[in-house]
Amino acid sequence: MANTISIRRAIAKASTEPDVIAAVRKWKNKRGSLIMVLHEIQNARGYVPRDVSLYLAEELEVPLARIYEALTFYHYFKLEAPGKAVISVCTGTACYLKGSPALVDEFVKETGAEVGSSTPDKLFHLQCVRCVGCCGLAPVVNVNGKTYGKLTPADIKKIVHEWRERFAGEIAPEEAHPIADES
Ligand code: FES
Repeated sequence: MANTISIRRAIAKASTEPDVIAAVRKWKNKRGSLIMVLHEIQNARGYVPRDVSLYLAEELEVPLARIYEALTFYHYFKLEAPGKAVISVCTGTACYLKGSPALVDEFVKETGAEVGSSTPDKLFHLQCVRCVGCCGLAPVVNVNGKTYGKLTPADIKKIVHEWRERFAGEIAPEEAHPIADES
C-alpha cells in the first residue's frame, strides 16, 4: 500500500514538470515516441529519473519493463543523476539568443563546476542542453526537474543558494517540486 502511494506520488510529481509535459506533448502518438521522449528527458536532465519512467509508462501506455529495457540497452541513457543537483542550461536557439551563455558563465562561477562535469563533492553537475520545449520562458534552466524561466545572470546566485540549502537540509532530489513554470 505504502509502495502504491509512493508510486502515485512519483507519477503525480513527474506529470507537472514542464520538460516532461513538453516531451510527451511533442511525441505522443508518433512513431518511436518512447525513445524520442526518453531522449528529450535525458537531454534535459542528464539522466532519466525513476519517477519520470513511471509517469511515461502510464502516459504512453508502455510497460515499465519495456522502458527500462530501452534505458539499459542504450549507453546514452543514464539512470542516476551525475550530481545531487543537475543544472541543465538550455542553449537552444531561443535561449541562446536571450542570453543563456551568460547564465552558463555565472553557474560556473557560483558552483565551481565546469560544463559537463560535477563539483568534487558531487553536489552540482553542470551541463548545457538543447531546447527543452519551453522557449516562451527563454532563457531556461532546469534543476532536477524544476524549471526556471526568463532568467538573468543576477538570478543565478539565488538558484545555487536554494539548492545548497536543500541539500544542507538533506532533502532528496525526488522531493523537489517544480514551481517556476506557471504557463
Ligand atoms: S531554446 Fe531553450 S527552451 Fe527552447
